[in-house]
Amino acid sequence: MFRRRAIQVQDVYVPQHKIIEVYDKLAPVYDIWGALTETKARSRALQLARVDDGSAILEVAVGTGLTFLELVKQNPVGTNIGIDISTGMLDKAKARLEKVENVNYQLETGNAFNLEVESKSVDILMNNYMFDLIAFNEIPVILNEFRRVLKDDGQLILVNMTQGESIFSRVYELIYRVSPKLMGGCRGIRLTDALIASGFKVDIREYIQQMLFPSEVILARPDTRTHLE
Ligand SMILES: C[S@@+](CC[C@H](N)C(=O)[O-])C[C@H]1O[C@@H](n2cnc3c(N)ncnc32)[C@H](O)[C@@H]1O
Repeated sequence: MFRRRAIQVQDVYVPQHKIIEVYDKLAPVYDIWGALTETKARSRALQLARVDDGSAILEVAVGTGLTFLELVKQNPVGTNIGIDISTGMLDKAKARLEKVENVNYQLETGNAFNLEVESKSVDILMNNYMFDLIAFNEIPVILNEFRRVLKDDGQLILVNMTQGESIFSRVYELIYRVSPKLMGGCRGIRLTDALIASGFKVDIREYIQQMLFPSEVILARPDTRTHLE
C-alpha cells in the first residue's frame, strides 16, 4: 500500500536582498499571473475590508496596484498610501493609478520591516502575497510593525499563498522546490499562529483556490488585551 507523504512547509530560498531584483524583472508579466490565480482571493480581501470613505489606508507590498486601485476608488476623501520595495512593480502601479480621476493617493518605495508611518494611525492595513516570501524568523518583525501602526480598532487584511488542501494544489510547492524564482520566491504558509503570537485576534481565515493555486484570506485585529513592547 502507498502512504501519502506529507509535504513539509518550506522556508524561503530567495532572500530579501534578491527580492527587489526578482520583482523588478517579474513586473511586466506579473498581472497575467495575478489574473489567472489571485482574483478571487483579492476580491474577497476587498470585501472584508469594508472601506468607509475617510479612512487611513496603508497597503504594504502594493505590487502593480491591482488591489490598491480598488481601495483608492472607495476612499477618495481618506488617505491612501501604497508602498513596495520594487520600483519595477511600483512603476506599474503608478501607471495604473494615473489613468483614474478624482482619487487621492501616494505610491512610494518602502519596506515592510520599517514602516515610515506613525504609530496607531492606520484604519486598514492591506497586505497581499508578501508573507509567503518572508523567512519564518522574520515574519514576527513585520507583524510587530503592522501592530504598531494600526489603530486599536483598525483591521489587518492579509492574503497569502497557503498550503494546498487538495493534492493537486500542492503542485505549486513542487515547482517551488525545483525553482523558487519561478514562483516569485513564494511558498505556501499559514499565518494564523504567528498573528496571535504577535498580538492579533484572527476573526476570519478562509481558504480560496483558483487554478489550483491555494490562498488564505485573513481578517485580523489588534488584540488590545495583549501588551505592546
Ligand atoms: C507576489 S507580489 C504581490 C504584489 C501585490 N501585493 C499583489 O497582490 O498583486 C509580492 C510583492 O511584495 C513586495 N515585497 C517583498 N518584500 C517586501 C518588503 N519587505 N517590503 C515591501 N514590499 C515587499 C515585492 O516587491 C512584490 O511587489
